[in-house]
Amino acid sequence: MKVHIYRDKAQAGQASALLLAAKIIENPDCVLGMATGSTPLPTYESLVELYNQGIIDFGRVRTFNLDEYVGISRSHEQSYFRFMFDNLFSKINIKPENVAVPNPVSANLQDDCLSYDAAIKAAGGIDIQVLGIGNNGHIAFNEPGRTFTFATHIVELTENTIEANKRFFSSIDDVPKRAITMGIGSIMQAKEIVMIATGEAKAEAVKAMIDGQIDPQCPASILQLHPAVTVFLDEGAAALLSR
Ligand code: PGA
Repeated sequence: MKVHIYRDKAQAGQASALLLAAKIIENPDCVLGMATGSTPLPTYESLVELYNQGIIDFGRVRTFNLDEYVGISRSHEQSYFRFMFDNLFSKINIKPENVAVPNPVSANLQDDCLSYDAAIKAAGGIDIQVLGIGNNGHIAFNEPGRTFTFATHIVELTENTIEANKRFFSSIDDVPKRAITMGIGSIMQAKEIVMIATGEAKAEAVKAMIDGQIDPQCPASILQLHPAVTVFLDEGAAALLSR
């Protein structure tokens, strides 16, 4: 893992966006893996700026998102589909048919899980995957557990995650209890990974990811086995690392 520590989240966002921009310049047909949450927002803002400056072009880029809540509509203001359009896709020239976010209201979720992984494979795999990390060490919605789950699957969200996400909903009862998420295998098959973590609340999870044992209790620790991970941290998220 290459670890870069920046002064604040704006700098970490800018730096991670530059790495993604370089990939898009190098390969205009690249397949990006996208993440939601507050962490990648500065990255997406910087990507929009680079697009507005004419430095990058999303005309042939394809994307796959990591995860989505189950049971809320795509137009719900907290759906990840909506998040991606509000914060990135509506501000760049990506073609709507080139973006994929798991379907939150499918009649057959299990089939959808299989077809999501198949679609990633058919696109040639993910060239570069953006990841955040949960306070509990989750990546996408792969929650701490006894094993790593390989493929895209349906998860019951942990209390910790429901608690962390309730800030976006009017009450904790409105937070969906299930999600569809790429599995650890789907993520590890990405050719390259950009992990972004900012803020002191992430410091323990970041330490476990980088300095800890590889353990499904900290799903992000599996990234130690990936050959091409670049970690972008701010001072807060890096506070507990042994340097
Ligand atoms: P956050 O979520 O960016 O909103 O902190 C990250 C995550 O849970 O993966």
